[in-house]
Amino acid sequence: MQNLKESDAISLSAPFPYVLVTSLDEKERPNAMGVAWVTRTSFEPFLIMISIDRRRYSHQGIQMHKEFVVNYPNIDQADAALICGTKSGRDGDKIKLAGLKLVDSVAVKVPTIEGVTVAFECKVVDQFETGDHTVFVGKVVGTSGNPEKSKHLYVSSKFKLFGMEGDADSA
Ligand SMILES: Cc1cc2nc3c(=O)[nH]c(=O)nc-3n(C[C@H](O)[C@H](O)[C@H](O)COP(=O)(O)O)c2cc1C
Repeated sequence: MQNLKESDAISLSAPFPYVLVTSLDEKERPNAMGVAWVTRTSFEPFLIMISIDRRRYSHQGIQMHKEFVVNYPNIDQADAALICGTKSGRDGDKIKLAGLKLVDSVAVKVPTIEGVTVAFECKVVDQFETGDHTVFVGKVVGTSGNPEKSKHLYVSSKFKLFGMEGDADSA
């Protein structure tokens, strides 16, 4: 074992799943941001948490409407997904810019991204500050997806997006 710089240690722990979190802004316009800090955190109730920098435009929307959707983009959506992780909805409609389409969610007002491998619709049940981010804890109230598009996105240590297979029985 050797001592490592923080940045090297983080690189060695890659890859990370890469999701698009959809939300509504104060005028109820949909937005989508790229998020790598996402994890399931309880079986029952089914909870997912995301860690969001307080400066993100999405942060205010999630805080206001208390809903978000965690979308796992499929491999064919990589270019669009990167746009959502590098541009801000504060400056315009990046969903349109990225060429992504939205569909109604089952149980929340926030829309789901069409064609994603899987989407988890969440209602915020808790939130807390953690250093320079806010953790939003979402109770999953609806799920949808495309099992035939099972290869979804991960981010490598070099910030490159790539696809890996899920293993749903129906895929
Ligand atoms: C690979 C990757 C992972 C990211 N992960 C996170 C994350 O976990 N939390 C976060 O707050 N921002 C994360 N970001 C940055 C946001 O996606 C980015 O700042 C985005 O432009 C915010 O959009 P918004 O201002 O419309 O909310 C990530 C970006 C990339 C490219």
